[in-house]
Amino acid sequence: LKVTAVVPAAGSGTRMGGSTKKQFLTIGGTPILAHTLMRLAESPEVTEIIPVLPPDELEALLDSCVECSGVSKVKRVVPGGKTRQESVYNGLKALGPDVEYVMVHDGVRPFVPLELIEALLHALPGHDGAILAVPSKDTVKEVNHDCMVCRTLDRKMVYLVQTPQVFRRDVILDAYRRAFADGFHGTDESSLVERIGGKIKVVMGSYANIKITTPEDMALADAIYNKEKGDAPKLRAAGGSR
Ligand code: C5P
Repeated sequence: LKVTAVVPAAGSGTRMGGSTKKQFLTIGGTPILAHTLMRLAESPEVTEIIPVLPPDELEALLDSCVECSGVSKVKRVVPGGKTRQESVYNGLKALGPDVEYVMVHDGVRPFVPLELIEALLHALPGHDGAILAVPSKDTVKEVNHDCMVCRTLDRKMVYLVQTPQVFRRDVILDAYRRAFADGFHGTDESSLVERIGGKIKVVMGSYANIKITTPEDMALADAIYNKEKGDAPKLRAAGGSR
């Protein structure tokens, strides 16, 4: 498959506190977004990456992050919108005419393993989309606005959804057009495709594929980074790809 990746990274990162937007905080001296771009670029099937960046700092960020990642698959960047959904839509509108498959991946998920990107792409044929998700370790309850329990979901059937999410181009474009026309707002791409009847395959993700959101996540991110760095020589010795 030939895939274009849209990477929303235009959030204000207000839950992180501090003045640096979270996608540009560093892990091991490299901005989070640069880590993310390098991961996606490892996949031979991802032929172009379109980062969606905060509009006010587009040029500066292009230099500091996109160029520092050294990723030649980034040929252009796109300004983000007020919501994640708007940011992704801006990325989708920038797709070239010959793009057949679109992957969307959060700029703040720097640890997605190449094996999972590949597993996701292999799962896509025959479906409208494929998404990474992990089984919930906790019991999940639906509550009402007063925080009273409505019901308990069967934990075996509950998955926590991550990115990347990958779709056929015509399907995700149609889903986005119709969501905006209907005033529907979803928290992931798949929910937009589901509501127009799309069939989505769930592929096992990884608990290490975290989304960096709050300050506690930075400590976890450093720990995952250091562990992966420590594991890398062992993996190579065992014939692994990294
Ligand atoms: O806010 P949340 O944690 O869901 O953000 C997920 C990703 O979406 C982040 O990489 C963030 O930068 C991006 N985002 C965006 N445009 C917005 C809000 C969030 O690209 N307006």
